[in-house]
Amino acid sequence: MNILAIETSCDETSCSIVKDGVHELSTTTATSAEMHELTGGVVPEVAARKQVESIVPVIEDCIKKSNITAPEEIDAIAITCGPGLIGSLIVGIEAAKALSLVWKKPLIAVNHLVGHIYGSFINNPRVEEIKFPAVVLIVSGGHTDLILMKDHMHFEFLGGTLDDAAGEAFDKVARVLGISKYLGGVVLSKLASTCTHNSLVGKLPRPMLDRDNYDFSFSGLKTAIRNYSDSDNAALACEFENAVIDVLVAKTIRAAKEYQVSSIILGGGVSANTQLRARIDVEAAVLGVNNFYPDIKYCGDSAAYIASAAFFNRCYVSGFDVQPQPSLSIMDTYPKVIHSHK
Ligand code: KG4
Ligand code: ZN
Repeated sequence: MNILAIETSCDETSCSIVKDGVHELSTTTATSAEMHELTGGVVPEVAARKQVESIVPVIEDCIKKSNITAPEEIDAIAITCGPGLIGSLIVGIEAAKALSLVWKKPLIAVNHLVGHIYGSFINNPRVEEIKFPAVVLIVSGGHTDLILMKDHMHFEFLGGTLDDAAGEAFDKVARVLGISKYLGGVVLSKLASTCTHNSLVGKLPRPMLDRDNYDFSFSGLKTAIRNYSDSDNAALACEFENAVIDVLVAKTIRAAKEYQVSSIILGGGVSANTQLRARIDVEAAVLGVNNFYPDIKYCGDSAAYIASAAFFNRCYVSGFDVQPQPSLSIMDTYPKVIHSHK
């Protein structure tokens, strides 16, 4: 079964064709990130205009690369319906509706956050080992959610951030340190890895680490960083990264123990972080639980995992009344039946 998916929730325009939910045939992604670097953050209007420019060439290129030669070889169209920027979402949704209408294919709306979970299902040689229940940590620029996933589309929200998302905290601290204006997570992590002597070990708080819940709070860290503005940037980056990861790992592992899960799954941009992966590897091995991360190229936004999420939940077919949903939570479990589409 081949699913063509479109993802336009923010500043990426992405199209993928995925076979049986796990084999990527092709993906094409355009980004307007360099334009947002100039402004130090996404300007929604600019992102939406770039979506309009990119959507058709991106879809055309993806189909060309896939070796698909006729619409008959596509079985369904999947589309991110939210959360995200409304102007960006509309562009992808309307393109997906047009393809669905012209090719007479079912349309499957996918919650972007649900999509992030399926990053670990794409081109993963160990995909058969992913068993439920699983504890899922979604750490992206906009979200930090800890979820108990009992099966495909059976989610229980355990906790999430009360303020900044993990990726957002990385980005803001990178800006405070003057090392990046936009999407500073990778740059900050690279700088942290150069720190040979961390003079600040344990100096930053580990927010909510000892609270008996699965919530997070990261906004205080960027304020705390300012108290050490005389310190070496590499030491600050290292201590900040350790503080965030200490909390993410402790709460994920605590949930894995409490719910006696079979798997730990990470998703979202921050799941690309080397330290986070290394720490989860160690803790999961101690617990005897299998852990899974997306390939680096599926940590950030990609239509590939939107296609995968649609495949594993393909009994849920949407109608043409799919609308952009800017603030969906993971518990708003799209795909869901809106009405049957013929
Ligand atoms: O999932 P994503 O591409 O976009 C959203 O849906 O939000 O996540 C982007 C976030 C950014 O905040 C970026 O700085 C962060 O992921 N990020 C990282 C790393 N790579 C990306 N944060 C820490 N370490 C990394 N290696
Ligand atoms: Zn995302």
